[in-house]
Amino acid sequence: MDRGPFDHIWIHAKLATFDPKVNAPCGLLEDYTLAVRGETIVAILPTDSPEVRAHRGAVTDCGGKFVTPGFIDCHTHLVWGGSRVADWESRLAGEPYTEIAKRGGGILSTVRATRAMTEDELQLAALPRLRALVAEGVTCVEIKSGYGLTLDDELKMLRVAKRVGEQLNVEVSPTLLAAHAVPPEFAGRADDYVSLIANEMIPTVAREQLAEAVDVFCESIAFAPVQCDRIFTAAKRHGLAIKGHVEQLTNSHGAELIARHGGWSADHLEFLDDAGVAAMAKTGTVAVLLPAAFYFLREKQKPPVEKLRAGGVPMAVASDLNPGTSPFASLRLAMNMACVLYGLTPEEALVGVTREAAKALGRASRLGTLEADKRADFLVWDVTHLAEIVCQLGVTPLAERIVRGKTHNA
Ligand code: NIG
Ligand code: FE
Repeated sequence: MDRGPFDHIWIHAKLATFDPKVNAPCGLLEDYTLAVRGETIVAILPTDSPEVRAHRGAVTDCGGKFVTPGFIDCHTHLVWGGSRVADWESRLAGEPYTEIAKRGGGILSTVRATRAMTEDELQLAALPRLRALVAEGVTCVEIKSGYGLTLDDELKMLRVAKRVGEQLNVEVSPTLLAAHAVPPEFAGRADDYVSLIANEMIPTVAREQLAEAVDVFCESIAFAPVQCDRIFTAAKRHGLAIKGHVEQLTNSHGAELIARHGGWSADHLEFLDDAGVAAMAKTGTVAVLLPAAFYFLREKQKPPVEKLRAGGVPMAVASDLNPGTSPFASLRLAMNMACVLYGLTPEEALVGVTREAAKALGRASRLGTLEADKRADFLVWDVTHLAEIVCQLGVTPLAERIVRGKTHNA
C-alpha cells in the first residue's frame, strides 16, 4: 500500500503487534511508530526511519509506552432486563444452576423481565455495562440476543445491541441466540420452536441485517445436537455465521457439530473431549474460553487447555457478560481468570482478546493485530510490563484509546 502522507503518527511506542510474522513475544517491536491515515493503520516503522522524520502532520509521543490492538470481547449477553440476584442466592444456598433453570428461574426469569421492557429501557440498562467494557479498552464487542425468544423480542434486543454500539462508538457483532432456552409457550414442543427459529427468525434477521451470526445453547437443559444442526443449516442458507455454547455442563459433541458446519467458534468447552479438540483443530474453529462463568458457577471441570494448545486451536477469552452466570462487565477480569483458573499465560490471554477474538468474530482481516491495512483501533498503556494489564485489576492503566484513527477516551 502507498504509505504516505500520514494523518497522525504515534512515535516511540512499544508495539505489541500480536502479528505472528513478528518473531518476538507478543509480536513486540521496541521504539516503533504507528502511522495512521483516515481509519487505517498504513505503516509500522522504526521511529528513526526517514518516513517518520519527514512527517509533518499530527504526532503523539508515546514516550516508550506499550501499544496493543483494541480489545475485542467476542462473547457477551449484555442486553438484558431484571436481576438474577435471587438465583445467585439460591446457588449459594446449594441449589444447582440446572435445577434453577428447570423450575423456570435462570434464563427464563430474565426472559420474562426482558420481554416486559421497551427498547429504550433496555438500552438504558445495557449502556453502563458496555461503558465498563469500553473503559477497559474494548473497541469491538459481540452482543447476543437470547432473552426475548419471540421474533419481536429477539429483534428488539438486536436493535438495542446496535444502538448501544453506535452510542459508544464500539463496533458490535450482533448474534441471534434464539436457541438459548425453550420459551414457556413452547414447553414440551421444542421442535416447533426450532422450526420458528429456522423458518422465521433466521430469515428475518438475515433480511434486516440485524445479526451476522447464529448461536445455540447445545446442552442437556437446552437444545439437542439434532435441533442445533437444523438451526445451523438454516443459518448457513441465509448467509449467517455459526457458533455455539457447547460442552459447558456436559459433553453433547456440540463442538464437533460446529466444526463440521465451518463455524466461527465453539464457546465454554469445559467438557470438550479429544474428538472435539481434533475437529476444531482441523477446521480452525476458535475455542472461546469463558472462565468467569466457570468461576461463578463454581464448576470443577476445566476446558482441556493443554490439548487445545497442543492441537494449535486458536484460543480466545471473553467476558460472557450476562445476568446469570457471569455478571462481570470486565474483560480484564476474564483474562486474569483465564490465567489463574485455566492456566493460560498472560500473553495467551492478551492474544485471546485481540488476534484470536477477531478470528472468533470473522474479523481477522480487519482487526486484532497491529499491522498495515488493519483498522486503527489501538490502546496506549501506562504499564512497565504487558502482563500488568492482565495482573492488576481495579485500576485501568489505559493512557489513550484510539478508535478508527481518532482518540476516544472512555
Ligand atoms: O453463557 N450457557 C448459556 N448462556 C449463558 C448463561 C445465560 C444466563 O444464565 O442467563 C452462558 O453461561
Ligand atoms: Fe454465554
